[in-house]
Amino acid sequence: MQTTVRGTILGLAAATMVAIWSIGAAAGPAQHRAASVTIVWAASPISNNGLRQHLITAFERAHPGIRVRLQSQPTNTDTNRQELITEINSGSATPDVYMGDVIWPAQFAQAGLAMDLSKVFPSTFWRRFAPGLVAGATYQGQVYGAPFFMDAGFLYYRKDLLARYHLPVPRTWTQLAVDAKTLLAHHAVRYGFVWEGAAYEGLTCNLMEYLTDAGGKVLSGTKSLFDSPASVRAVSFMRSLIVSGVSPAAVTTFQEPQAMNAFAQGQAAFLRNWDYAWSNSQSSPAVKGKVGVAPLPAFSASGYPGYSNIGGWNLYINPHTEHLAAVRTFIEWMTGVAGQTQLATYASEIPTNAQVQRLPEVRKLNPVLGVVSRVRLVARPAYTPAYAKVSSALYTNVNLALTGQLSPRAAVAKAAQAIAQAISGQGL
Ligand code: GLC
Repeated sequence: MQTTVRGTILGLAAATMVAIWSIGAAAGPAQHRAASVTIVWAASPISNNGLRQHLITAFERAHPGIRVRLQSQPTNTDTNRQELITEINSGSATPDVYMGDVIWPAQFAQAGLAMDLSKVFPSTFWRRFAPGLVAGATYQGQVYGAPFFMDAGFLYYRKDLLARYHLPVPRTWTQLAVDAKTLLAHHAVRYGFVWEGAAYEGLTCNLMEYLTDAGGKVLSGTKSLFDSPASVRAVSFMRSLIVSGVSPAAVTTFQEPQAMNAFAQGQAAFLRNWDYAWSNSQSSPAVKGKVGVAPLPAFSASGYPGYSNIGGWNLYINPHTEHLAAVRTFIEWMTGVAGQTQLATYASEIPTNAQVQRLPEVRKLNPVLGVVSRVRLVARPAYTPAYAKVSSALYTNVNLALTGQLSPRAAVAKAAQAIAQAISGQGL
């Protein structure tokens, strides 16, 4: 069954590509073919099946006058950002275009690290995107990133194991703990629930989900609201997952790849991860065909579905690029029907292009799209240029609570203090 799905995924992408290529060839500007230009695209890995290179190959076929060289970036968004900041601040004209996190627009706009795209694309260009995404890439009235794909947090579970032990797909965190403990008691898995608890941006994403469900908030405008009973409840619960053995202590060092690997190797019953985890799991023989995807649980049954943090990546232009026309063509293609269909069917990403989100053939191949319409979404407070510091205050202190070095209450108080400091004197 899964082999068929996989084959169909590739089949659909190929069929779509052929259609798009022929349109591209008919309209293809002959002058591009003569004068070839090479642009550099910086991007971290999107999935484990070589999607970036597939996109590049398809783009080059559609636009034979433009070559794209991939500059591979680290998977950790914080390290990725630091490398790009250093490179662009040095005045380098490469990368010409880069895949950057949805939390970067305010910081990058303020620091002059991204071109104002409102001047690069006509207003008609922005109509292709699903509602809300362009607003998320806007800082002080100008758009700095073209939405490339959206991420949301989901619960992945082992269908086969839940069925074998007659356990429900959890709708509350308490039920998830009961399911996990039952499976652990039967030695059906090594770990109950794996997630991203290392001291980095991904922990902030996980925290946002528990915090919002508990009724808490990080910021309101430039006011820190983090020092609250809801924050203590969220952090205490995360720590309790480890203390009770539902999650291994190792989650305090896990980023997405480690959590993904534990689940893909069949070691864990539950995984919190982004949309691409579905396609990643289908390429792993240990769990292929045995994985279900659902909204994250909530603290109470009436709160179901729980909250999913909004992640995702935009395409930004280096203000020093010398190839603006080619970069514009690249972004148009990547956010158009051809590029977005590949993203959604090859790597179960959530396309940003509204038309592609609705295509029945895409929805059929990407089960995550059916779930995302049911979840409650929450964004990180990335509207301030100080967001990187705010997030670092959160993940550093919450990680210390997860490892038991700080009590949840102390971690919340310390984080709140650091947030207030980071935000003081910062505008929006
Ligand atoms: C995913 C999300 C991104 C988030 C990151 C955290 O890549 O798309 O928005 O910052 O994970 O690890």
